[in-house]
Amino acid sequence: MPAEKDSPAARAQELRREINHHNYRYYVLDQPEISDAGFDRLMRELERIEAAHPELITPDSPTQRVGAAPAEELGTVEHRTPMLSLGNAFGTDELVAFDRRVKRMLDMPEAAPIAYVAELKVDGLAVSLTYEGGVLTIGATRGDGVHGEDITQNLRTINTIPLRLLDAAGAPRLLEVRGEVFLSHEEFKRINDERAASGEALFANPRNAAAGSVRQLDSRITAGRNLDMIAHGLGVAEERSFETHWDRLEFLRACGFKVSPHAQVCDTVDELIVFCDHWGESKHELPYEIDGVVAKVNSAELQERLGYVSRSPRWAVAYKYPPEEATTVVRDIIVSVGRTGAMTPVAIMDPVTVSGSTVSRAVLHNEDEVRRKDVRVGDTVIIHKAGEVIPELVSVVTSKRTGKEKPFHMPKKCPVCGSDAERLPDEAVTRCTGIACPAQLKQRIFFFGSRGAMDIEGMGEVLVDQLVERGLVKDPADIYFLTQEQVASLDRMAEKSASNVIAAIEGSKRRPLNRLLRALGIPHVGGTVADVVAASFAGLEEIRKASVEELSDIEGIGPVIAESIAVFFRQEQTKVLMKKLRKAGVVPEPRAQSPPVTEGPLVGKSVVFTGELSGYTREEAEELVRRLGGRATSSVSKKTDYVVVGENPGSKHDKAQQLGVTILDEDGFRRLVKRS
Ligand code: IVH
Repeated sequence: MPAEKDSPAARAQELRREINHHNYRYYVLDQPEISDAGFDRLMRELERIEAAHPELITPDSPTQRVGAAPAEELGTVEHRTPMLSLGNAFGTDELVAFDRRVKRMLDMPEAAPIAYVAELKVDGLAVSLTYEGGVLTIGATRGDGVHGEDITQNLRTINTIPLRLLDAAGAPRLLEVRGEVFLSHEEFKRINDERAASGEALFANPRNAAAGSVRQLDSRITAGRNLDMIAHGLGVAEERSFETHWDRLEFLRACGFKVSPHAQVCDTVDELIVFCDHWGESKHELPYEIDGVVAKVNSAELQERLGYVSRSPRWAVAYKYPPEEATTVVRDIIVSVGRTGAMTPVAIMDPVTVSGSTVSRAVLHNEDEVRRKDVRVGDTVIIHKAGEVIPELVSVVTSKRTGKEKPFHMPKKCPVCGSDAERLPDEAVTRCTGIACPAQLKQRIFFFGSRGAMDIEGMGEVLVDQLVERGLVKDPADIYFLTQEQVASLDRMAEKSASNVIAAIEGSKRRPLNRLLRALGIPHVGGTVADVVAASFAGLEEIRKASVEELSDIEGIGPVIAESIAVFFRQEQTKVLMKKLRKAGVVPEPRAQSPPVTEGPLVGKSVVFTGELSGYTREEAEELVRRLGGRATSSVSKKTDYVVVGENPGSKHDKAQQLGVTILDEDGFRRLVKRS
């Protein structure tokens, strides 16, 4: 039945169309037509309609990019068309040999030109997307080429993957799209920085990070990783036929996919070689990693005639660039002390050029890593630049050993403050135990002001070093008490820059709660965790007072994180810090976008739902509570304020009765919401 004009259904449909369009302009074309605030308004209007009319929610609604509960395990799907792999060509000679082979198989004279489409070979993870009637229904990994893992929920979070194809695609009954999911250098670095900060193992390169992100059981983690996808081919495409591969790329573009802007038709193998050489030189200018060029015979007819051999098409080849490595000599292994006291061994080497930049340091992560690679001072080593960002020490050239190399031992004392170093039995990290270690303090302050945290412009390392060394700052809150004169008195600090820094510090006082929470540098609390926790509480005070139980009731927060947060807030040092932050007037906005709710019957209250509600899904009801300043938790305790009971309630109803917690039915809850 067609929706009436102006009905919520019609408005929702219109909003979806509009949002999809703007999403496409922003993420795929990089040409936004409206402001972020304008976009948020549209999203919020759609969210409101869907909250009031949950029956109108469709799987392809832009509100549904993250919607599913964490999975127990990834399922398996069978690809309708197998996902093939490619033969490799190393060097120009092998590319020419490929071209000759193609012509021989087609009975063409060697001098006859064959046109190829040349595409950059993005170093990511191959995926297949199935669209039925224009709507994304399945997303899968390549797997063994025949069966892949079902990663639909995770792929839905990627903004360059349309949940519904653009209208120009004409809603084909069935379409399989093939593409490469990847992370930009910038995102890769951001993720690894965050992992380093919370003591997690680092990803070796962007491809591993992309693969790890896409295979998460909890799609909210994937959503926080800002993955991207470039579409490069089709599997099943019913009702469609294409004369050339180029036409397929054009079709993918019309469907709303991101297609590489660098793909090009090369009319001869010589042009193809020029393309490969050009990108071999220029690949460092790309914001993501490529490991070669894929060349595909352009004509669909010729592709069909060439066919397949084992699991690879005869009409395509992967031209691979040689891995970028260099050898150098380790002159020293120093230990750097991080924000949490983690003592990280770092190899200091003779400067050497890899992937177009000079490298002289390589992080060795921890003591075990040094042992495993058996790196010694004086060793000749092979360096690789993983993701063009982080230089990695690959291995030691043991044949070059002279016997004079010195093994590394983790020092027993912190090299900066001289406190004891400690390595707990189950941990790989050795930590400085000094509570006033200046190295830790500098890193903590620097982190507090960094872009992902309180985002204080001008709080660079040079400035922070001086603030700590002169004793002006002893914890992050002290920055809010700095005077213009104090800052201006530092080296290399002009009057104007000093006032800019003071203004930036002042401006950070009302950063959203998730940023402040992250900035505190609580172990295990990175950006995503901070977002989740901040969204569940009205303010920092509420988080500080929360019990381990209440914290671990939040979806996505396990006992380890909950314990870590509770322990942090119980520390004497934290109490002092909180007092100072309050005194300085650091009052975060509770949530990143919406204004804080400070009044109403639900503010600060914890609510548990049990049984089925008729007017809301569980998620909507919980979201509503959060929006109205309360907390939605999953288990009943004495501290629970309300238990809302729907149809077929569980044991939480009994527990609420035993503990004397206020019990509401759905109508009671609705009245409470109305009063808010
Ligand atoms: S076409 C039958 N095109 O490289 C054709 N693959 O070595 C199959 N890749 O598994 C792949 N960029 O993961 C193709 N523009 C591109 C690509 C690309 C990256 C990856 C893909 C594939 C692997 C083959």
